[in-house]
Amino acid sequence: MASLIQRAGAPGPADALLKPASSNGDEGRCEPAPAIRRATIADIPQVHALIALNAKTGAVLPRTLENLYTTVREFQVCVDADTVIGMCALHVSNSTLAEIRSLCVDDRYEGRGIGSALTQASINEARRLGLGTVFALTYRVKFFQRLGFTVVEKSTLPQKIWTDCVHCHKFPTCDETALILRLQETPDQEGAASPPLLRVLR
Ligand SMILES: CC(C)(COP(=O)(O)OP(=O)(O)OC[C@H]1O[C@@H](n2cnc3c(N)ncnc32)[C@H](O)[C@@H]1OP(=O)(O)O)[C@@H](O)C(=O)NCCC(=O)NCCS
Repeated sequence: MASLIQRAGAPGPADALLKPASSNGDEGRCEPAPAIRRATIADIPQVHALIALNAKTGAVLPRTLENLYTTVREFQVCVDADTVIGMCALHVSNSTLAEIRSLCVDDRYEGRGIGSALTQASINEARRLGLGTVFALTYRVKFFQRLGFTVVEKSTLPQKIWTDCVHCHKFPTCDETALILRLQETPDQEGAASPPLLRVLR
């Protein structure tokens, strides 16, 4: 939704995503595609800035820098060269359940499958951890349904409601929709094809 990249002037990273380097006069060599990988400490300031931008619209909850450093292992990031252009966190709620959190893609890169690939990377991580179900609270219902999630009553997520939600400024009048994905009932997408021009580093 929100962009941290200057729009004015010369073509930016989003243009580089679509153009081979030959368009810059460097014949025969292609720009590296954006890649999805686990976050590092060095990514966190950019993760913080992109979340802060999207939190202004209420699409995601704001996170402090301190909180992001302590939860760095929850994050997958999509990077174009050294620029973080998207991220998604997987927060374990209990022995069977985890939440997809802080999913954001820089708006210059939206609609290219990056958000889906980041979400899939977090689903793969949940599967690797041995969790049974992932859930999301969101306004982007169709986006998650396309990934196999189904809408449920929020009251079916008691652990979430009574731990984290009570600290949220939207509580108790949250208008987001709850969706879940039961991992045993969905095929393992690990190793599945990612969108063109997007690498997944494991
Ligand atoms: C939600 C969000 C992360 C999606 O990121 P994205 O990179 O645009 O996601 P995708 O490209 O995978 O999918 C977006 C749409 O583009 C379409 N799409 C996916 N790949 C595409 C491609 N290669 N070409 C064209 N369209 C494509 C999808 O059909 C999808 O449509 P849908 O949302 O109606 O299902 C992004 O819009 C965002 O940051 N929003 C603000 C924060 C937010 O709402 N976060 C969710 C909190 S739970």
